[in-house]
Amino acid sequence: MEVVLRCAAILVCLLVVVQAQVPPFTEKCEHGMYPPKAESKVASYVINLDLPPAERWTSLAKEKAPQIRDMIAEIKAFAGAFGNGSIIALVDKYLAPLADTLPYPFADELKGIAKATDIPLGEVVLFNVFYEFFTVCTSIVAEDPSGKLFHARNLDFGLFLGWDIKNNTWALSEKLRPIVVNLDWQRGGKTVFKSVNFAGYVGLLTAVKPQTFTYSMNERFSADGGYIGLIEWILGQRDGSWMGFLTREVLENATSFTEAETMLANRTMLAPAYFILGGTKSGEGAIITRSRERALDIKRLDPANGRWFLLQTNYDNWENPPFIDDRRTPGDNCMANMTTANTDLPHIFDVLSSKPVLNKLTTYTALMQVDEGHIESYIQECPDPCIPW
Ligand SMILES: *[C@@H]1O[C@H](CO)[C@@H](O)[C@H](O)[C@H]1NC(C)=O
Ligand SMILES: *[C@@H]1O[C@H](CO)[C@@H](O)[C@H](O)[C@H]1NC(C)=O
Ligand SMILES: *[C@@H]1O[C@H](CO)[C@@H](O)[C@H](O)[C@H]1NC(C)=O
Ligand SMILES: *[C@@H]1O[C@H](CO)[C@@H](O)[C@H](O)[C@H]1NC(C)=O
Ligand SMILES: *[C@@H]1O[C@H](CO)[C@@H](O)[C@H](O)[C@H]1NC(C)=O
Repeated sequence: MEVVLRCAAILVCLLVVVQAQVPPFTEKCEHGMYPPKAESKVASYVINLDLPPAERWTSLAKEKAPQIRDMIAEIKAFAGAFGNGSIIALVDKYLAPLADTLPYPFADELKGIAKATDIPLGEVVLFNVFYEFFTVCTSIVAEDPSGKLFHARNLDFGLFLGWDIKNNTWALSEKLRPIVVNLDWQRGGKTVFKSVNFAGYVGLLTAVKPQTFTYSMNERFSADGGYIGLIEWILGQRDGSWMGFLTREVLENATSFTEAETMLANRTMLAPAYFILGGTKSGEGAIITRSRERALDIKRLDPANGRWFLLQTNYDNWENPPFIDDRRTPGDNCMANMTTANTDLPHIFDVLSSKPVLNKLTTYTALMQVDEGHIESYIQECPDPCIPW
């Protein structure tokens, strides 16, 4: 399944490169983009952790069911065009039983979502698996001269599904924007942590634990990619954590930046990843580069030596990014241009709104500040001329 879609994705990319007359865009650092227009602000929902897992998602999933179905239909249409219908049959046959192999409370949560949306369980599992593997993005942690920390990210959904030549849009990215939600995860009526999610996905890609730490995850492409972990899981070798589940545990249970870092660095996972963490004190910022087994590298903020921000895309930060997808150099330049003295969420929003850090895959920008326990997010669209990724 994964392998087929990967190959298909590469095919689509080639088609795009050959066919789409992508208009030239100018790389420049944007200014004064914040606040964006009110319509792009993402709405908030409460997830009540005191409810039984099967009921936690019911009201949100019911409300967003048409949009979630639309999004899954897009994936299915694509899979159908490359396979011949049989791929979807495989999903329903093999991925639905997989739900029962997931640790508590995730199996019940996924079943609750399937029931509330009337989507087959296998497809809900598929949709949850996707985010583990196709999250192309830019994350930034930065501190101002007083040591106050800021954390922000663009989420570009990297499954290159269906370039619309007339509209210059990715069909799947279009379907994802309507299901972006802010979640306030509560226990006993109190916030435990807050996140930005795609409705129906139970893991965490972007989150803040107030007064404790901030977190984001970027996909890491690697030869021993995630589908090997997934296949192992299907075959019964289940010692690795799903990234989405590990991160739920970290946000719920870690009580400090250091504890979160240790948990994210040391657990065997199904897929490689970059974890970007921010804490509450000067210097508490890290990019954890993960293989499936361990942390290959941890790069920290070091303001005393001029490293007042960390910016991570989807490539190991000790190597050059490929020239066909270099969002790091322009992002670093815009951060440097912003200067440490101007470090705040509006200015970081400007950086994340600058092309090609902003591109046609970008679905949302999230802004977080740990002391205030603050998270806000905005749907992003990249106006033409804009690079497809
Ligand atoms: C850097 O910022 C200055 C204003 O502070 C602006 O004039 C200049 O164009 C910026 N550089 C880039 C590459 O945008
Ligand atoms: C497509 O269908 C044919 C039979 O109709 C089958 O033999 C083949 O395996 C299918 N291919 C894929 C990729 O599902
Ligand atoms: C372009 O995108 C809009 C918004 O997603 C959609 O409603 C419209 O049908 C698309 N146009 C074409 C020609 O595909
Ligand atoms: C958090 O820790 C508690 C107690 O060890 C455990 O029961 C719970 O499952 C953990 N939460 C998650 C999401 O793993
Ligand atoms: C991972 O665990 C080992 C042993 O428990 C510990 O020594 C090491 O510091 C941990 N790594 C990180 C980054 O926390």
